[in-house]
Amino acid sequence: MMRSESPVPQTVPDEDEFRASVHAGLRQQPKTIPPKFFYDAHGSHLFDLICTTPEYYPTRTETGILKRYGAEIVELIGTSCALIELGSGSAIKTPLLLQHLADNAVYVPIDICESNLLQSTQRLQAMFPALHMRPLCVDYTRIPLHTLKRLSDRRQVFFFPGSTIGNYTPEDAVQLLKQFAEMVDRNGALLIGVDCKKAPEILNAAYNDAQGYTAAFNLNLLTRMQRELDAQLDANHFAHYAFYNAALGRIEMHLVSQCDQVIRLGKESFPLDEGETIHTENSYKYTAHEFQQLARAAGWHLKTTWSDHGGLFNMHYLSLSTTEPRHLARRMR
Ligand code: AVJ
Repeated sequence: MMRSESPVPQTVPDEDEFRASVHAGLRQQPKTIPPKFFYDAHGSHLFDLICTTPEYYPTRTETGILKRYGAEIVELIGTSCALIELGSGSAIKTPLLLQHLADNAVYVPIDICESNLLQSTQRLQAMFPALHMRPLCVDYTRIPLHTLKRLSDRRQVFFFPGSTIGNYTPEDAVQLLKQFAEMVDRNGALLIGVDCKKAPEILNAAYNDAQGYTAAFNLNLLTRMQRELDAQLDANHFAHYAFYNAALGRIEMHLVSQCDQVIRLGKESFPLDEGETIHTENSYKYTAHEFQQLARAAGWHLKTTWSDHGGLFNMHYLSLSTTEPRHLARRMR
């Protein structure tokens, strides 16, 4: 059980990491800031709003897949497993799996945003009072190896939904999946949501919602820099820009400077020309076959893929074992 008096183990990426990353990223040409810094409390809230828009299909679609196949998925991963969610955020879809788990299963939400982590764990604990929950406030790329061992002796199933893997270049994605393979037990598994390649119009709309939540989410990086790093800049002189780069199979998000201007950070100045961009996010899209190859390069074997009827989004079940049977890919009817 989660006890509210016991503090969540912490290795939070502190302000120093944000500062160091922004400094390093703005010194680069082209300028970049890594997308993980979108997710402060306000950014996490904006992301939840993005997920409610008609244009942003991934969340809705992945939720549909989990609704339709949740029972079948849990049967495969094991009803008594340790479900370890990497970057759990608000964990809005997770109940669709938790409802099928046995009471002796363990749920381990992992997130860098402590407020979000505590709130969502409390909400889930109220929904599933008998389930053991062990929230972990840490960057999921930096989980100390001994930590997972200590948490539970159940079969470890990493749950990495939402196509977060798309934020990494294919090379980095292979490295991350290798890291997961090294962290997880030999009999462990990975359940991962991956957004598919599709018509550019659908992709472009998804990252340019009419309500402007994606723009606000992107621009929040700048106001976060003002709030936390005391950066001197005018967020009104930047514009949200997102487009599908078909040659590279990815959505790119940028903050475009609307004039010649200077960002001041501590003693350093970063001049930007009018039209110059800060590249804030990539979101790679993969066919099932492309993703299978990528995972294979990291030592994972694809066992099953569940998809929606439109073929917009895939949920892949992978294991390290060559002997675990493969199931046919499922498609919603
Ligand atoms: C959470 C990384 C999957 O790339 O679609 C949504 C983040 N960025 N809208 C994505 C995001 C802009 C999202 N991921």
